[in-house]
Amino acid sequence: MPCIYVSEISQYEGQEVTVRGWLYNIRSSGKIIFPIVRDGTGLLQTILLKNAVPADVFESAKALTQESSLEVTGLVRKVPEGKTAPGGFELDVRSLKIGQLIPAGNPFPITPKEHGVEFLMDQRHLWIRSSRQHAILKIRHEIIRAVRAFFDDRGFTLVDTPIFTPAACEGATTLFEVGYFDEKAYLTQSGQLYNEATAAAFGKVYCFGPTFRAEKSKTRRHLTEFWMVEPEVAYATLDDIMCLAEEFITYVVKKVLESRRSELQTLERDVSKLEKIEPPFPRISYDEAIQLLQSKGVSIEGGDDFGGTDETLLSQEYDRPLMVHHYPAQVKAFYMEPDPVRQDLALCVDVLAPEGYGEIIGGGQRAASLDLLKRRIEEHHLPPAAFDWYLDLRKYGTFPHAGFGMGIERAVAWICGLEHVRETIPFPRMLYRLRP
Ligand code: 4AD
Ligand code: MG
Repeated sequence: MPCIYVSEISQYEGQEVTVRGWLYNIRSSGKIIFPIVRDGTGLLQTILLKNAVPADVFESAKALTQESSLEVTGLVRKVPEGKTAPGGFELDVRSLKIGQLIPAGNPFPITPKEHGVEFLMDQRHLWIRSSRQHAILKIRHEIIRAVRAFFDDRGFTLVDTPIFTPAACEGATTLFEVGYFDEKAYLTQSGQLYNEATAAAFGKVYCFGPTFRAEKSKTRRHLTEFWMVEPEVAYATLDDIMCLAEEFITYVVKKVLESRRSELQTLERDVSKLEKIEPPFPRISYDEAIQLLQSKGVSIEGGDDFGGTDETLLSQEYDRPLMVHHYPAQVKAFYMEPDPVRQDLALCVDVLAPEGYGEIIGGGQRAASLDLLKRRIEEHHLPPAAFDWYLDLRKYGTFPHAGFGMGIERAVAWICGLEHVRETIPFPRMLYRLRP
């Protein structure tokens, strides 16, 4: 008799199968019990009739508790018309094997009742079993799959970049220092600098991995460990990568809409908002963004960086992702290429997701001049020795190039319509959270 996954159940109508999983929920009414079984791939309503199974089986089923592990064997039946059950099929149970019965006195900590977020975060290792968290993490997987497919299908080579690094990429204030034998190392903030080297070797590259920021910010957008996908393209300009970002975001959203409808529904996501994500995305300069904010009564001066609330305000203005380009060089990282006409501006772009989600992508064109980079490294008080190899890229065939980075968790939060990034990653790491 086949052991199957709930997701495959429709192929087994009329057959006897075994499903292995955990008790999701149970209802009973005297002579009939409806345990709902969860196996990670779906939910299955099972049915035990008092007259149809041995008395001991019926009694043990009645005593089942939430999340007890079990194996059920029975006949697969289409749910009769007029009745509903998850997935449209149910199992007429012939036998039941309990793996572990969780005692009623020490029940599974997460029950269908409301729990506080801190409690749930402490129970994250168990919380991920619940249907909402399951839906979010399935969508996360779909997004990651789409990210890889997008670049793979367009001739990009995936080239992995290191996690232990000798220096900062995105500002020395958010570096995590780790002991590295007799010296200090830092957890990478971005694979970009290495991407620039690999772009010279492969033309179009991307890296995708965990990145780290010792952010002392306790906001709904910040994690200390997050996953970033970073494409880098040799000979590309700012304009080229804005077009790439636009095509990329559109593709990822489409793939999620195609493959994860039911999960979006579980999250009660308004998909009409996602269906509007089509090129062209609005593009405004930093100066225009400042004017827009000022016209909304925000007290912000040209030259200031945007805060979280500014980004929220800007991204609420449009129903598509907003591309803000040409920020003042002084608020951006050391490696930005200056605008040839206005040297104080950087050839960079931030993409702000709609519905107030704010920045999901940061990128731009990279400085190609050796002298400029040397000066910038000094101005930013970066240790020159750690950048020797990076400067080599400007000595041995320097070339214009551009790229960007998208934080996966910010993208998941937006696509899923979540309040906070803490639910977008299986085990979040934040200012006050290192466990479980
Ligand atoms: O804007 P950032 O800092 O850009 C870079 O790191 C560039 N080196 C990328 C590149 O051009 N290759 O970060 C890029 C993205 C942000 O837009 C955001 O989505 C995400 O990374 N991000 C974070 N996500 C969660 N928590 C944090 N603390 C994040 N910091 C950045
Ligand atoms: Mg940024």
